[in-house]
Amino acid sequence: MKRAFVIGHPIAHSRSPLIHGYWLKRYGIEGSYEAIDVPPAGVPDFFARLKAGAFVGGNVTIPHKEIAYALCDERDPLAEEIGAVNTLVLKGEEVTGYNTDYLGFLGNLDQNAPGWDQNLEDVVVLGAGGASRAVLVALKSRKVGRIHLLNRTIDKAEALAIEFEGKIECGGLHEFPMRAPNARLVVNTSSVGMKGTAFEGLDLARLPADAVVTDLVYVPLVTPLLEEAKSLGLKVVDGLGMLLHQAVPGFEAWFGTRPEVTTELRARIEATL
Ligand code: ATR
Repeated sequence: MKRAFVIGHPIAHSRSPLIHGYWLKRYGIEGSYEAIDVPPAGVPDFFARLKAGAFVGGNVTIPHKEIAYALCDERDPLAEEIGAVNTLVLKGEEVTGYNTDYLGFLGNLDQNAPGWDQNLEDVVVLGAGGASRAVLVALKSRKVGRIHLLNRTIDKAEALAIEFEGKIECGGLHEFPMRAPNARLVVNTSSVGMKGTAFEGLDLARLPADAVVTDLVYVPLVTPLLEEAKSLGLKVVDGLGMLLHQAVPGFEAWFGTRPEVTTELRARIEATL
């Protein structure tokens, strides 16, 4: 039986076992996917178990994405660009690391806002942390025109922009109203929206009427940002789809079937939030 895992610390909150468990059942695959709590000091030993053939691969979540990156024998070029891995695949006795977060981001928009990337000139990205890196890589792969990278700490946005090159303009969050008029996509990659927090004074009314607003935060599912966008009649895409879509490439690599993100799966995970 093929066994896969998700490691993290803590790990109890992870929805991944539910997602992969649903697909294993749906496609009648004899396999398993289990959540394993591994403290940081235990990650090298866990890699040794993986290489010895105990698993076909698995996911890595907070706080292990960078340690796992360093322990991989090989890395996908896009994972290298992002600097972190979330998906491990055993090939022979070697572990290859991937970062499927950027594919999750793209898959979510492709499914829920088809055509979002057609002639896309301006995009506003809020936040310049780890999640922002995956989104920048994703946007670059779709050849968007100009990215306005706005962050509470402007220095961090600037450091990221230098690393990524391309047409990235940086600013503070207070610049949103002046960056908005031509932006047909707004992405929140920051943690604002979690735990009752909200952006102040973004003024989404400045966006064009056909703008899409998406949030990586999915607890709550409808963040204050999405709530405001909805009330203005803008198209919104919540972050749950990204979580579901980032799981697709891993499942396919471990179990040999490309799974589908269905409304039934979404409803099941939504019920647990
Ligand atoms: P992740 O890996 O999830 O992106 P991170 O690397 O810690 O997490 O980045 C968190 C992001 O949320 C950063 O862009 C951070 O802004 P700073 O760079 O200024 O710290 C942003 N963020 C967190 N709390 C915020 C707040 N209250 N207001 C505005 N931005 C916030």
